[in-house]
Amino acid sequence: MKTVLVTGGAGFIGSNLVRWILHHRDWRVVNLDALTYAGNLENLRDVEQDPRYVFVHGRIEDAQLVTRLLEEYAVEGIIHCAAESHVDRSILSAAPFYETNVRGTLVLLEAARAYGIKRFLHVSTDEVYGSLGPDDPPFTEESPLKPNSPYAASKAAADCMVRAFVHTYNMPAIIARCSNNYGPYQFPEKLIPLMITNALADEPLPVYGDGHQVRDWIYVEDHCRGLVAAYEQGVVGEVYNFGGRSERRNIDVVRAILQLLGKPESLIRHVPDRPGHDRRYAIDCTKAERELGWTPTVTFEEGLAWTVEWYLHNRAWIESVRSGEYRRYYEQQYSWRLQEGAQV
Ligand code: NAD
Ligand code: TYD
Repeated sequence: MKTVLVTGGAGFIGSNLVRWILHHRDWRVVNLDALTYAGNLENLRDVEQDPRYVFVHGRIEDAQLVTRLLEEYAVEGIIHCAAESHVDRSILSAAPFYETNVRGTLVLLEAARAYGIKRFLHVSTDEVYGSLGPDDPPFTEESPLKPNSPYAASKAAADCMVRAFVHTYNMPAIIARCSNNYGPYQFPEKLIPLMITNALADEPLPVYGDGHQVRDWIYVEDHCRGLVAAYEQGVVGEVYNFGGRSERRNIDVVRAILQLLGKPESLIRHVPDRPGHDRRYAIDCTKAERELGWTPTVTFEEGLAWTVEWYLHNRAWIESVRSGEYRRYYEQQYSWRLQEGAQV
């Protein structure tokens, strides 16, 4: 049985990816996650007993730990999701983004190279391409990197390092760049889960500026399927864009959520805009469709309805995240092993 190391597997996309792999492939998954505020082991409660699943608490910047895991589990390849991922946090403080996204990626690349990894899928973002005007064509894999936020800059720097490792050391790496994901288990600081959870609590919905900024939205499972396709079939050194072909203005997304929940638009509050706010992202994913046989299958209306439904049925998850209780779940589950100083 092959083993893949998924970094950041306790986060939003990582946990959906780990679950997708365990359901659709006969692989062992080692999940290396630092459990920052965004990492939540409750996201994987339904698969944690699967004998093919191993959780390891640690940081990707820990070269010794990464090397030990690669060797101990005879890892075939890495799917690198771990990151500091929230633009607003990067505006408040860029340093953690440099540490995890840039230095952490370099540590992983060096460990993977020394070990002789067979596959390295770097999970990046469309935000490395910068912002589009209203009539510009969507980003392709050939679009120049013009990151605007500290988050996007850190991801672009990591992408460049991955590219350099392919070019210089023949590292068998591939880069995936995806648009905005939404779906179950997304931490409620990103637009869609924040608006759902605030609306459920009858709290104001903060819309930055005029709300006319545009994002392309992809249902997280479509992205996960694309990541596995890129891991299995992608050509080394290539970049693959993934998107949902669902460009929407933020204000329209927020209104759709209120409508699904039967809540009034009077909850919307226009607040001062995010500094340096990118106006529009849109992604051309025809290369992934042509070369990987992948296509997004979930329409935005369908996916948003499922997502709202998921949050409605998982109030306990929302409560534990909002109250910080989810951190205690981790401590209870793993405290005895932590006390022994062993990996979990
Ligand atoms: P997330 O913030 O929900 O999860 C990140 C995970 O990484 C968390 O579990 C966290 O504990 C872990 N982590 C953070 N720093 C770490 C470190 N130093 N060592 C080990 N683990 C660490 O993020 P997400 O939304 O799931 O995004 C996952 C990846 O996908 C990121 O690389 C992000 O840039 C990329 N991406 C996200 C989106 C999106 O819309 N969410 C879109 C395109 C690309
Ligand atoms: P976000 O989910 O933070 O993703 P990104 O900035 O990576 O695209 O935000 C999506 C869009 O929603 C973005 O244009 C910023 C906007 N936004 C708000 O208007 N209000 C909010 O409270 C948040 C978190 C985001």
